[in-house]
Amino acid sequence: MNKKISKDSNQKKLDLKAKKLAQKKQLQKDKLAKKQLKKSKKEKLQKNKLSKANEKNLKSKQLKAKKLAQKKVARNKKLELKKNKLLALKKLRAKKLAKKQLKRDKKLELKKNKLLIKKRIKQQNNLIAKYSKKILKSRKIISLTNNKPSINENIIELFNVSKSYISGEVETPIIKNISLKIKKGNFVVVLGPSGSGKTTLLNLISGLDRASNGDVFVNGYNLTLLKDSHLTTFRRLNVGFIFQQYNLLTNLNAKENVEVGENLAQKKHQKWTIEKIFEKIDMAEQMNKYPHQMSGGQQQRVSIARALAKNPIVLFGDEPTGALDEKTGKKVLSILLNIQKEFESTIILVTHNPNIAKIADVIIKVHDGKIEEIVQNEHPTDPNLISWQ
Ligand SMILES: Nc1ncnc2c1ncn2[C@@H]1O[C@H](COP(=O)(O)OP(=O)(O)O)[C@@H](O)[C@H]1O
Ligand SMILES: [Mg+2]
Repeated sequence: MNKKISKDSNQKKLDLKAKKLAQKKQLQKDKLAKKQLKKSKKEKLQKNKLSKANEKNLKSKQLKAKKLAQKKVARNKKLELKKNKLLALKKLRAKKLAKKQLKRDKKLELKKNKLLIKKRIKQQNNLIAKYSKKILKSRKIISLTNNKPSINENIIELFNVSKSYISGEVETPIIKNISLKIKKGNFVVVLGPSGSGKTTLLNLISGLDRASNGDVFVNGYNLTLLKDSHLTTFRRLNVGFIFQQYNLLTNLNAKENVEVGENLAQKKHQKWTIEKIFEKIDMAEQMNKYPHQMSGGQQQRVSIARALAKNPIVLFGDEPTGALDEKTGKKVLSILLNIQKEFESTIILVTHNPNIAKIADVIIKVHDGKIEEIVQNEHPTDPNLISWQ
């Protein structure tokens, strides 16, 4: 019995020991686990700390890089601006230089032009000095264009005629290389719009002005080569004028006005007396009237009489009906046609009115200083049958 008790107690002791051992082991395990937990916590904390530091570092690095980039952009911008400014300045300078050069070139060109003009005028003046007298007094035929006028057939011949007006260094061409022939006894109308050069052309043909280039042969005289005083003589002896504004002397009566024309002229080929002329133009009753006592149409007829008294080779009229009403205008045109028939005169009228042109034998159409067309009018219209407007 005792043995059994002792055995039990031993067993109990053993169990207890085992239990205690197990407990101790568990405790140790727990402790270890705890330690492990603590360690991992610490590690985690440390890791966190580290990553935060890293992040901070990164952020600061990024900020720095951003700032640097911004600085770089600003610097580039500044550089670009500077470059652009420099470029603009360069462009401006080049532009200014080009402008200056252009101005200089223009000036040079003008100077050259002026010299050329001077040279041409000098050449013409030399030729005029050489030939003017020979042409007027000895009736020498001298051409600048190597042409020969057919004097017996044509009363007027123009070869390559130009006229320009010079103001300063600038030369403006008005008549541009015109050539034409007008037969003796023809009734010619120069037709063209205002500003086309009709008056200028008429002035060249009638010796009121001188061509810049080419030959203007009238009755064999080359007017391009006549000096001023010889042109005046030529006009006095050869041509008659009818102006738009009549140009009568106001302190002389009609007959005296006509006598002025007659006195200036050669009388050897005179066909009619002054009285006869006044009869022919239906003005016999008005011979003693002064210009202010007559109508426009009557005054214009006196101016025609004055031109006729000279017995001119050519009769010129620059818009002679321009200031007249239809009835008196037609009357003046009819009288001019009668004169052409009876005197066998050559008549050259300038007009801008195409209806008036219909009465002519020849219509010279002028445009921009050039001849557009020369029309031979086979059936001239009676002045009383044309429409006026
Ligand atoms: N003395 C002058 N100086 C400069 N230009 C002129 C002169 N006379 C006329 N012109 C010019 O010549 C051109 C022709 O004029 P003009 O012969 O009077 O024409 P139209 O008689 O056909 O109206 C016009 O442009 C006119 O301004
Ligand atoms: Mg005119």
